[in-house]
Amino acid sequence: MAERDAAATVLEVPGGREAAARALEAVRRRTLAVTDVEEPELTAQHSPLMSPLVWDLAHIGQQEDLWLLRGGDSAAQGLLSCRVEQLYDAFEHPRASRVSLPLLGPDEARRYLADVRGRVVSGLERVPDDTAGALFPTHMVLQHEQQHVETMLATHQLRDGVPVLGSGTPLPPGRDLPHDAVLVPGGPFVLGVDGHDEPWSLDNERPAHVVDVPSFRIGRVPVTNAEWQRFVEAGGYAEPRWWSARGWEHRQQAGLERPLFWGADGTRRRFGHHEELVPDEPVQHVSWFEAEAYAAWAGARLPTEQEWEKACTWDPALGRRRRWPWGDSAWTPELANLGGEALRPAPVGAYAAGASAYGVEQMMGDVWEWTSSPFEPWPGFAPMLYAQYSAPFFGGDYRVLRGGSWAVGDGAVRPSFRNWDHPVRRQIFTGLRLAWDVDGADRPEGGA
Ligand SMILES: [Fe+2]
Repeated sequence: MAERDAAATVLEVPGGREAAARALEAVRRRTLAVTDVEEPELTAQHSPLMSPLVWDLAHIGQQEDLWLLRGGDSAAQGLLSCRVEQLYDAFEHPRASRVSLPLLGPDEARRYLADVRGRVVSGLERVPDDTAGALFPTHMVLQHEQQHVETMLATHQLRDGVPVLGSGTPLPPGRDLPHDAVLVPGGPFVLGVDGHDEPWSLDNERPAHVVDVPSFRIGRVPVTNAEWQRFVEAGGYAEPRWWSARGWEHRQQAGLERPLFWGADGTRRRFGHHEELVPDEPVQHVSWFEAEAYAAWAGARLPTEQEWEKACTWDPALGRRRRWPWGDSAWTPELANLGGEALRPAPVGAYAAGASAYGVEQMMGDVWEWTSSPFEPWPGFAPMLYAQYSAPFFGGDYRVLRGGSWAVGDGAVRPSFRNWDHPVRRQIFTGLRLAWDVDGADRPEGGA
């Protein structure tokens, strides 16, 4: 791996400048679409967990201004005055307080975004087309904007009131398939990636390194609403024996009885719509503590992120990683539910063609999948240009999530992509997939 990395400064850059420009345009369409709502919806604080949408909007521009117009030099003058620019510093202002800041209004924020983007696009013509390093900041900023589109969708989901986003685009139907446990035989595989393989991978995904993973089984599909409903009906939320001590304490304090946005009557609220739960859709809006309890009830456990990544990306016949679970070809809507326009996960079985080499399905898109792993650097970690992206969070009270959700753009997720959040969080689009030891007492014939 090391020799390849040394030679990685010049390589094929997928699509070069033109692809980057197209991707910038595409994500901006998404940003403008999810903020194309009345002004009071943009300036209100819909939840103390989230920023007002108008903050996200200008912050997207501020980060693009900082990284692409000033090379990350925050002392250099940007397009906003220092006084206004610091309002958009995510480390400086906690989300709950952002509503009380003298933020730019929606029209000013949109003008600022357009102004920054115009300059970025003109500057892109001068960026060398053949080195990944030169285009990395553009892709980093692109991924940042895609991440904020997902964040803004989470804000929309938390907001009360009549629907403003429609009900989402059609998805492929599910199919009958066993919700069984797929064996992943033990042995070494390559965890993580290098810039050579994935030029737009972020710092915490690197470097590629070999790890030996003992045999395990993993759920062919994510846990569904119907399966979670059985956990609720079996009294799973009332029995401390399924919960860790911390998880149980939190369950009691927060009064958790079912996933967020579920009603007691088998309905759910989704972007302002009240609807019946869809039985074969992956469950979402569960915290890590809930996922851990469900897994215990089902006679299983959560996968580690090493297990998750091996099941997703390793091709045992060829002894190498695939770029995606289905192979090396780019994502298409037939392979996974990504991109955000569906506004929901697809039923299990919807993406037979997206299966991994081991036959595990729907690892990309649909719901972020909680793993049992805390967020730590891979050996040999080196911070990227945006040095504060990962490093301040290593070792904190976080668990890693994998695979992206339906709300994520295909440029902002990869099999190596690592997301992290607090174990109590459930406003994000999170679900789970079970795992089992192969030789222990934990067999897949549990309560699920
Ligand atoms: Fe941000």
